[in-house]
Amino acid sequence: MEKKIAVIRGDGIGPEIVAEAIKVLDAVAAKYGHTFTYDEVDMGGVAIDKWGEPLPQAMLDKCLAADSVLLGAVGGPKWDGLPGAQRPEKGLLALRAGMGLYSNLRPAKLWPQLAEASPLKPSIVAQGIDFIVVRELIGGVYFGEHKTETINGQQVATDVMPYSEAEIERIGRIAFETARKRRKKVTSVDKANVLDTSRLWRAVMHRLAAEYPDVEYSDMLVDNTAMQIVKNPAQFDVVVTENMFGDILSDEASMITGSIGMIPSSSLGEGTRGLYEPIHGSAPDIAGQDKANPIGTILSAAMMLKYSFDMDEEAAAIEAAVHKVLDAGKRTGDSMAEGCSLVSCSEMGSAIAAAL
Ligand code: IPM
Ligand code: MG
Repeated sequence: MEKKIAVIRGDGIGPEIVAEAIKVLDAVAAKYGHTFTYDEVDMGGVAIDKWGEPLPQAMLDKCLAADSVLLGAVGGPKWDGLPGAQRPEKGLLALRAGMGLYSNLRPAKLWPQLAEASPLKPSIVAQGIDFIVVRELIGGVYFGEHKTETINGQQVATDVMPYSEAEIERIGRIAFETARKRRKKVTSVDKANVLDTSRLWRAVMHRLAAEYPDVEYSDMLVDNTAMQIVKNPAQFDVVVTENMFGDILSDEASMITGSIGMIPSSSLGEGTRGLYEPIHGSAPDIAGQDKANPIGTILSAAMMLKYSFDMDEEAAAIEAAVHKVLDAGKRTGDSMAEGCSLVSCSEMGSAIAAAL
């Protein structure tokens, strides 16, 4: 197959981790007889510096013209002083919205080799951690009106959190369909004791639950969920929630698996063109030092092969290669443990490509 991949290297460690994912994609192409071509896209801080805005229209157009998009990370202290609408993160939000990517899947799966890196007690880890956060990605407070005004001599800031039934239903369906391919359990997370958006969310989810009687369904309040994720993560299979709750809970979920550097994500809308990125940020503190963990990005590339290109075997081969390299005791700094050998970002990428 021939596939055109838009590549956003981004800021901080972004260029380093994306280079390793491309190394692995090229190894897959060579082994399975595919041709991957890469179209470079500027987004985030690098685009602000070069073009004066975080996502120029021409860059969005390149993504829309590709078969899929691979992203490293964006943002950094250099651009922190800019107003909200001009920040690097705004480019990412505009890209998600511009591509219509409402469905963000963030797996929280414990790699057995990294069990000791989990901050949870071994007795909790032993029960297993294997769930997936299905996060609504282009609605809610991220995309409602934002304003800061002066009222009675005081600054007052407002962020609006809108959700329509249709927006809730389409992400709900993704959750139920995803659960059908897993352990058939959906936990819908909301704050229905306080928020109208959550009460609507819950009503729509209940309607859908009736359509999926083979899937075990429950509601959970977001504060309780934050607690249950560290107390008893084994209870979760598919966790579906709105945009901001999903942002917060997916960081928590990744941390209990040992390292946020290991977790990939997919963002999809209608159709097969998606955006694939690790869930961690641009880590400016270690940028340019060849120290970052590229595995989250490499596994994101694997998700791209599986979900956008229907290349299940190739995706499984990448995962198997990651297992092999971890089994061999190779670790980047974030997940280094006793008895293991410390490798650089590029050494990790080369090892995984070689294991393929
Ligand atoms: C994420 C990030 C983004 C988000 C930021 C960079 C805007 O935290 O992908 O989780 O909040 O969605
Ligand atoms: Mg986040």
